Amino acid sequence: MTPTLKITQLCKRFGGIVVADAIDLEIHSGDILGLIGPNGAGKSTLFNLISGVYPSDSGEVCLMGQRLNGQSITSRAQSGISRTWQHMRLFQSLSVLDNLVVASRFYEAESLVTLFFQSAKIKKLQEEKAERALQILQRMELKHLCDWAIGDLTFGQQKLMGLARALMNEGQLLLLDEPMAGVEGQSYDMMKEVVRQEARGGRAICVVEHNISFVKDLCSSAVFMFAGKILERGRVEDLLASKTLEALYFGAQTDGTAAVEDTL
Ligand SMILES: Nc1ncnc2c1ncn2[C@@H]1O[C@H](COP(=O)(O)OP(=O)(O)O)[C@@H](O)[C@H]1O
Ligand SMILES: [Mg+2]
Repeated sequence: MTPTLKITQLCKRFGGIVVADAIDLEIHSGDILGLIGPNGAGKSTLFNLISGVYPSDSGEVCLMGQRLNGQSITSRAQSGISRTWQHMRLFQSLSVLDNLVVASRFYEAESLVTLFFQSAKIKKLQEEKAERALQILQRMELKHLCDWAIGDLTFGQQKLMGLARALMNEGQLLLLDEPMAGVEGQSYDMMKEVVRQEARGGRAICVVEHNISFVKDLCSSAVFMFAGKILERGRVEDLLASKTLEALYFGAQTDGTAAVEDTL
């Protein structure tokens, strides 16, 4: 089966620092792959290279067998890459519903001609987007807050909104950058359930997370990144038992050099 995402020998430097060092990775439809590693390992940078925020220096990113190198962030989103951001990047002054409707414009490439001359078509598109947004909000039990400003939501609800915005794109690949950081209670359970449902629905998901309970509950396999390299990969239980991880990741927790929010 063609992998949803296939990365081959992906490399990136920032000045003298190698942040992606010959990364090879495959994610298939229905997978939830955990991406773990200490702060500064290169996890968010890898997401930025996949989604087109930065160009890579060398190597390949393929989505459903199509090479994406050289494509912009917008065209990669339209090809089916959907992501959340470590720092949510929501529009604080816009309503919950408008944050979702506005986000989806980015995914659908409306042309200026359409915008100016086909107002009936635009109205219909807007209604469809609002309908989709309301369905997602309902799934997350946020529909009753659809007119609220983002700034009035709890932190956990705002993190759910980050995921909701990504789900406005129906693409095959979903990249989640620390979705659980600072999230607890009801929002925590909801986040877990929605991510699980999305994988069941066929998306390929990669999740960067320091919350090891979350990774253990959701991910069948994981990779461990350190200094721009994937050092270990395999089943989550095997990875968590690895001496390399213990020394470079959990060791770093105990002397306080990594912000890990949960333990085994
Ligand atoms: N735009 C950038 N310019 C220069 N250095 C960067 C940039 N983005 C990230 N880095 C560096 O790349 C390394 C990896 O960062 P990052 O991918 O954010 O790590 P992680 O998400 O694993 O905590 C860090 O040393 C960081 O300072
Ligand atoms: Mg990061």
